[in-house]
Amino acid sequence: MNIKKQIEQLRAELHLHNYNYYVLNSPQISDKEFDDKLRELQNLEEAHPEYYDDSSPTMRVGSDISKNFTQIYHKYPMLSLANTYSEAEVTEFYERTQKALNESFEICCEMKYDGTSISLIYENGKLVRAATRGDGEKGDDVTDNVKTIQSIPLLLHGNNYPSNFEIRGEILMPWKIFEKLNQEREFNEEPLFANPRNAASGTLKLQNSSIVASRKLDAYLYYLLGEKLPSDSHYENLKIASTWGFKVSNIMCKCKTLQEIFDFIKYWDIERKNLPVATDGIVLKVNSLKQQKKLGFTAKSPRWAIAYKFQAERALTRLNKVTYQIGRTGAVTPVANLNPVQLSGTIVRRASLHNEDIINGLDLHIGDMVYVEKGGEIIPKITGVDKASRNFIIGEKVNFITNCPECGSQLIRYEGESAYYCPNETNCPPQIKGKIEHFISRKAMNIEGLGPETIDQFYQLGLIHDVADLYTLTVEQLKKLNRMGIKSAQNIILEINRSKNVPFERVIFALGIRFVGETVAKKIAKSFENIDQLQQASLEELVSINEIGNKIAQSILNYFSNKSNCQLIDRLKEAGLQFQRIEKNLKQYTNKLAGKSIVISGVFTHHSRDEYKEIIEENGGKNVGSISSKTSFILAGKNMGPSKLEKAKILGISVLSEDDFLKLLS
Ligand code: IVH
Repeated sequence: MNIKKQIEQLRAELHLHNYNYYVLNSPQISDKEFDDKLRELQNLEEAHPEYYDDSSPTMRVGSDISKNFTQIYHKYPMLSLANTYSEAEVTEFYERTQKALNESFEICCEMKYDGTSISLIYENGKLVRAATRGDGEKGDDVTDNVKTIQSIPLLLHGNNYPSNFEIRGEILMPWKIFEKLNQEREFNEEPLFANPRNAASGTLKLQNSSIVASRKLDAYLYYLLGEKLPSDSHYENLKIASTWGFKVSNIMCKCKTLQEIFDFIKYWDIERKNLPVATDGIVLKVNSLKQQKKLGFTAKSPRWAIAYKFQAERALTRLNKVTYQIGRTGAVTPVANLNPVQLSGTIVRRASLHNEDIINGLDLHIGDMVYVEKGGEIIPKITGVDKASRNFIIGEKVNFITNCPECGSQLIRYEGESAYYCPNETNCPPQIKGKIEHFISRKAMNIEGLGPETIDQFYQLGLIHDVADLYTLTVEQLKKLNRMGIKSAQNIILEINRSKNVPFERVIFALGIRFVGETVAKKIAKSFENIDQLQQASLEELVSINEIGNKIAQSILNYFSNKSNCQLIDRLKEAGLQFQRIEKNLKQYTNKLAGKSIVISGVFTHHSRDEYKEIIEENGGKNVGSISSKTSFILAGKNMGPSKLEKAKILGISVLSEDDFLKLLS
């Protein structure tokens, strides 16, 4: 086959696999097979730039070229929807529509997706432009970033699409991705995204599309525009658009009566909690395009549609004081201390205030009555101040602190960042304790028996000042401490010694280098044989590793340029930690677990749960969630639940310890 044909065939295959995976949720090949094909295509395209095509599936990996966005004028203005909050307002909309049309009509009910809106332009079946809403008249050209979203087709299926049309929808960050992203940001002590909407719109505006690609955004399309649309029904048009390859939600219902509309609202107000993405209401649209035209638009919104917003759970309470937490890297987080208040089933006492700009934006004063919301989000936030209830006894204005409340150092705010930092890395107590807590945590060195309180006690008594001091502790020292018997002392020392077997990649993670999370640490351990190689690596070598960009590379260089960090590593080396990759790598692909369904349960020492999952898959097995008669065996760590054990016994399923499992593979 000639090269051109080969490239075209690979492109067509990959487009189809993308669609099966991201739109239909039904992959036909394994991730590895997909990656192999993509790499093959990338290599061919690199060797044959004459066959460049900006709709190739390889365009979805993004590029790291920075650029500012150009503005695009929308062909049809991007209006918003009028919001309603009660059944009475929905009834009003329905009756108004009835009166204006004076004929029978249908209302299409859909979810109101809570992300950021997007306009996509297709010409001859090809995505040519993607723009944000902007001011409604013109928005940012975010085509390169949008191309990285796998559920948005670059080329359409079939041949019955109009040659020119626009489709609008919502770009979303699924809850799972959002939570993982915030966990990573928490680890790096970067400001957290308050909700998936902010995360999605922040991501879409990133200058580096390869980071956008890594954030795994999704999109639902809900509005087709153009001169030659296939049907007069909005509902039918969306159904047809889904056959062209678009992801259209199947939560759509044509309703004739108000009762049907209310039933839909009531059902989805509850059921939406099980959806993978955030929603904040229901959109009601007159279904017939002819009738839509007849109803027309006001200056701000269509008369043929409204949004019914679900009630955001909100409470009013008093702000008593603002305290400041210092994290492991010195980042300062302001925390609002509130009069306890009931919200979405929990009592809220504290809410994050994120940063100085947010505090100033709220014009916050001590004693203010503030609105707290949890609208499906993880961290409660303060959304406003009830200024009308301010009186003469109101306290002083909240000004962000200038000095660290723990060590007194003057705080610094780096250019372009919203957070303040305490620069006193080696002597600020919460930074020291935070680094030790991270070091011993489950995904790092996994030293059991030590928790924040014990670390605090050891630190207060002057027994430890950094992580290397842990390896100098003795049973003699510990058994003398308050509330510590000889048994606990021995256990702690045993656990500390056991951590000397923790593999290289987790030791790298445990060091707590800024931006080096679990995944990056794994990548590093795959690329460098030992810590000395990493210590000597140049910026170029570091950025040549997949997923390591300038920011991470620079942070690694900074870490090793600090003498006290190098001395710390020398002491840890002396203590016997694994600063070398173990070559008898379990992750060599084998077939030893082929056909086996394995349940993982309990707490492990040598690898994390996620690593065991990976090991199982890489050796041909399948990790399953619950025990059934089809389970081959259970990989059991410590503290496996008694009910699982019981079930395994009844079904006669064998239980393998961590060591037995590793032996089986070695
Ligand atoms: S239709 C002319 N349908 O809500 C109005 N919008 O305030 C066209 N949205 O900007 C929009 N889910 O970002 C429509 N199923 C849905 C939607 C939806 C979310 C967003 C959209 C729009 C905003 C309106």
